[in-house]
Amino acid sequence: MKKMAPDSILDVRDLTVKFFLDEGTVHAVNGVSFSVPAGRSVGIVGESGCGKTVSAYSITRLLPKTARISGEILFRERGGDITNITELEPDGGDMRRIRGKEISMIFQEPMSSLSPVHKISNQLSEAIIQFQGLTKRQARARVIELLQLVGIPQAERRVDDYPFQLSGGMRQRAMIAMALARNPRVLIADEPTTALDVTLQAQVLNLIRDMQDEFKLSLILITHDLGVVAHMVDYVSIMYLGMVVESGPVIEIFDNPKHPYTRGLMHSIPKLRGRRGERVEPIPGFVPSAYALQEGCPFCERCPMREERCTKGIPQRVQVGSEHYVCCHVYQPGEGEPDVVNA
Ligand SMILES: Nc1ncnc2c1ncn2[C@@H]1O[C@H](COP(=O)(O)OP(=O)(O)O)[C@@H](O)[C@H]1O
Ligand SMILES: [Mg+2]
Repeated sequence: MKKMAPDSILDVRDLTVKFFLDEGTVHAVNGVSFSVPAGRSVGIVGESGCGKTVSAYSITRLLPKTARISGEILFRERGGDITNITELEPDGGDMRRIRGKEISMIFQEPMSSLSPVHKISNQLSEAIIQFQGLTKRQARARVIELLQLVGIPQAERRVDDYPFQLSGGMRQRAMIAMALARNPRVLIADEPTTALDVTLQAQVLNLIRDMQDEFKLSLILITHDLGVVAHMVDYVSIMYLGMVVESGPVIEIFDNPKHPYTRGLMHSIPKLRGRRGERVEPIPGFVPSAYALQEGCPFCERCPMREERCTKGIPQRVQVGSEHYVCCHVYQPGEGEPDVVNA
């Protein structure tokens, strides 16, 4: 049997996902590794197109048929057995059992998990009856309880609404209730607040955190916004072009960012109490195309600390602190701290 760290519920190891299209091969995820300790929260952060959603869909095996997946996704079952999700049939019994009941997802767009033609009550009670063996009446009571828990006012009445009758924020809450209906152990939230305005964002993030405590969930929070993870997660992995370039405890990453890309992301967060006229510094350049695999460091072209060696060979993962790792040529063991640019 495969081994995992004793506190780990999910271990993604060297995950690679390619899409084989007529136009060429898209290298969407290129050797991503991260672990989720049981009951803790992990943030996956990176610009649009860096492979966050494809990584999440790999965990739930919801990728289109054009995708080829390799590497390991180890999941610790309730009984303690370890299942390698990459070896399961996407539509097979084991995967259908894990998807939803063990690992549940919420999305930016609630309508990707709510059906527009069914009442909230029917959608949620179906999930509950199917997975928890309750009667219809018991399931309805549980649905109302869940809707109350996620902060939907007058839940006894709203339960008979169709999704379109709810406001955007309420729909987001109903989707979270839907994800929790099957009592999962892992929740993956993929940009859950990106489509919401700022005040609603904070409410929904707080709700996710409360639900994490209430249900003792292990959480993977995916976002392009480094600012969002600051108060939400214990650990963070920073992704660039299908790779994790830096990872560590969130406090450590904020206090002591090492990778030039992470530093760039920090500088591009607008400060609430910034001085007037102080500029937010965007990272120059664009994310390169995922059609061609880079020869050197993926960030090399945009990097202010670029050196000759950066164009040759993918940088190895180097430990730079307790649980803190960085993939950057500039941090080789024994070379000391490099000159810091833009920090
Ligand atoms: N179904 C697909 N077919 C081909 N390429 C895809 C597909 N889905 C995503 N990609 C590509 O994979 C890369 C990663 O995408 P994605 O995981 O959606 O990024 P993110 O969620 O970080 O914004 C991008 O280059 C994207 O264009
Ligand atoms: Mg995405």
